[in-house]
Amino acid sequence: MRTQVGIVGAGPAGLLLSHLLALRGIDSIVVEDRSRAYCEARQRAGVLEHGSVRLLREAGLAARLDQEGIEHGGIYLQFAGERHHIDFRDLTGGRTVTVWAQTEVVKDLIAERLRAGGAIEFDVTDTTVEHLETDRPVLGYTSADGTRHEVICDAIAGCDGFHGICREAIPARLRTVTEREYPYAWLGILADVRPSTDELIYSHHERGFALHSLRGPTVSRLYLQVRPDEPIGEWPDERVWDELARRFELPGWELKTGPVLEKGITPMRSFVSAPMRHGRLFLAGDAAHIVPPTGAKGLNLAFADVAVLAPALDALLHGDPGPAGAYSATCLDRVWRCTHFSWWMTTMLHRTPGADAMEARLQLSQLRYVATSRAAATSLAENYTGYPELPAKVSRSARTSPAPGGNFKI
Ligand code: FAD
Ligand code: DHB
Repeated sequence: MRTQVGIVGAGPAGLLLSHLLALRGIDSIVVEDRSRAYCEARQRAGVLEHGSVRLLREAGLAARLDQEGIEHGGIYLQFAGERHHIDFRDLTGGRTVTVWAQTEVVKDLIAERLRAGGAIEFDVTDTTVEHLETDRPVLGYTSADGTRHEVICDAIAGCDGFHGICREAIPARLRTVTEREYPYAWLGILADVRPSTDELIYSHHERGFALHSLRGPTVSRLYLQVRPDEPIGEWPDERVWDELARRFELPGWELKTGPVLEKGITPMRSFVSAPMRHGRLFLAGDAAHIVPPTGAKGLNLAFADVAVLAPALDALLHGDPGPAGAYSATCLDRVWRCTHFSWWMTTMLHRTPGADAMEARLQLSQLRYVATSRAAATSLAENYTGYPELPAKVSRSARTSPAPGGNFKI
C-alpha cells in the first residue's frame, strides 16, 4: 500500500491533520487502536482558544461549533471569599474563548473525513513506524480483521498521544525530555444539571482548587483538586457535590447539583520531548508534550502543531524542505509558552500538600495582583485566549503541479 502521509492516532491532532492535508490535496491514512465509539465518547478538554475556533472555521469544520458552542468573554477567579471577573474582551481587544467539548470536535472530524472518502482504520493493533531516516518511511498495522498492512509513505505523523509508540521510535540519545509531576490530580465530573455560572470559575481555596465549567445549557463539567493516588471509590457523588459547594462557597450564590453522568481522575504533569521531528517522523500534540489542564491548553496545542505541520508537509512533498526543517523549533516556541502559562495557573491556584505559610501568602498576593492590576490581568487574558496568534491559513498557496504520487483534488 502507498499513501503520502501515514498518521498514527485518531485524536484531535491526527484527525485535524488528515483534514488539513486533504484540503491541500494530500492523501493520508489514519490508524487508531481504539474503536470509533470510544474515540467519540472520551471525555477530555472543553475550551477552544480564539485561534482554534478560527482555524476550524477556515477549515470548514465549524457548522455545529457555531450553532452549539458557547462563547465566553472571560473567566472568574475566586480566592479569599471573593470572586473577580477577568474580562478577556476588554483586555485583549475583543478576543474570546469557546466552550466546545473535545468529544464534539472529534465527532465532527471523523464524520467529515469519512464523508470526504478519507481513510481511517479503527481498532488496529501492533502499529509500527519504520525506516524513518529514509524518504520512504513505513507505517505498519494489523487491521481489525487480522490482516497485516505495510503502508509506504512520504512522511509519518505521530499523533498517538502520551502513551503512543511514535515518540519512543526516536532514538533516546537524540531526545531531550523535560518533565515535572505535580503532587495533585483532578477529579472531574460531568453532571446533568444547568450550570450555576455564566463564566468558568477557577477557585483557589484552602481545601484545594476547584473549577466550574460547562458543556451546554443543561450539562455542567466540574473539577476538584484531589491527591494523585486518591481511589475514586472514596468519592461518592454526594461527597463530590459537598466538596465542590465548599470550595465555590460565596454569600448569595448557590451551586446547583444533579445526576453525575461520568467521573474520572486525571494526573497532572508538564512534559516536553524535543525535538518533535526525526527524519520523516513528525510528532504532534500529546505525543510530544503534556501540560497540566489548568490553562485549558492541551487540545489547543495539538491544533497549533498540526496547523504548522500541514503546510510544512505540503512544502516537503513539493521539494521544499525548509518549513519541515523549522517545524520542531516553531512548535516548541508555543509549547514552552503554554507550558509556562499552564504551570503558572496551576501553581497559583492549587494547594501544595505540606506547603508553608510563605507559599500560601505568595499565592494570594499573586491572585490579588491579577484581580486588581490591568497589566497582570492582560497577561492572563492574552495567554488564555491564545498566544502567539495561530497561523490559520488552511488552503494551499497557488501551485500548478500536484505532489508526486498524490491524488490532487481541489
Ligand atoms: P489524543 O487525544 O491522546 O489522541 C491520540 C490517539 O492516538 C488516541 O485516540 C489513541 O487511542 C491513539 N493511539 C495511541 N497509541 C496508538 C497506537 N499505538 N496505534 C494507533 N493509535 C494509537 N486538556 C485540556 O485542555 N483540558 C482538559 O480538561 C483536559 N482533560 C484531559 C483529561 C484526560 C484524561 C487526558 C488524557 C487529557 C486531557 N486533556 C485536557 C488534554 C487534551 O485532551 C489533549 O491534549 C488532547 O486530547 C491531545 O490530542 P492528541 O490528538 O494529541 O492526543
Ligand atoms: C475545562 C477543562 C480545563 O482544563 C479548563 O482549564 C477549563 C475547562 C473543561 O473541561 O471544560
